[in-house]
Amino acid sequence: MSTLAPKPIYREAKSGRLVEAYASAGDLFHAAAHKVAEIISECEGKKPACAVALSGGSTPKRLYELLAKGEGGSIDWKRVQVFFSDERNVPPEDLESNYRMAKESLFASGLVPEANIHRIHGEYSADEAARSYGEEIKRVLGDDPTFDLILLGLGPDGHTASLFPDSPALDEKQRPVVANRIDKLKSERITFTYPLLNSAEHVIFLASGSDKANIVRAVLSGNGDYPSQHVKPDKGELIWMLDKDGAQLYIERPNR
Ligand code: 6PG
Repeated sequence: MSTLAPKPIYREAKSGRLVEAYASAGDLFHAAAHKVAEIISECEGKKPACAVALSGGSTPKRLYELLAKGEGGSIDWKRVQVFFSDERNVPPEDLESNYRMAKESLFASGLVPEANIHRIHGEYSADEAARSYGEEIKRVLGDDPTFDLILLGLGPDGHTASLFPDSPALDEKQRPVVANRIDKLKSERITFTYPLLNSAEHVIFLASGSDKANIVRAVLSGNGDYPSQHVKPDKGELIWMLDKDGAQLYIERPNR
């Protein structure tokens, strides 16, 4: 049974992006569940199948758990193709695996048909995982793939997906998915690139908690040059969904 979408305590629509802040993390994730359901039902009204890319990390887990309970509104998951915007170079059962997190929080509900789940094969070499995932995206979405919704997070250094500062994938202009060497993590990642991210119909950034407040303000204020600032959908909608703690510094002193 879905509840009403919480109302934001702060809303700002300017320069091609919408910023919404919610009174609590709970409200944030409920509002995000409603937004996801709204975007998918809008898409289902227009085309046979919707393409959604999930984000990794820890933040979206509560959103996926709400979607697994049908919170946010009914979603016909049979008509949704589910992908991932990035993955760690680890097998699917690894604790670090974004697929594992989504499996435990959403797919375990059985709502999403197995055939509609397209995971990044983090157990392969990063290059092979990226190449095969690019192929898989084109197999399912066609040669010029456009996602209806891409979910993203925000790292403390301003990274998003696995587009980290000073990493080679930032300069990719062609391929939709690439392997990306992250020196400071001494590891490889597999990530969507800007060409694919910026061709999406809807991009939602989710960030929660006071430990994100500084980077949220820096990124949204345009101070500095952070990878997440370069996610600007060409024609699509860009939404930043935050909780009060994450948005506090930006709302108080936006530096603008
Ligand atoms: C990943 C993510 C990454 C994540 C940020 C935020 O694979 O780690 O895709 O971009 O969204 O690092 O992570 P948290 O949500 O855990 O703070």
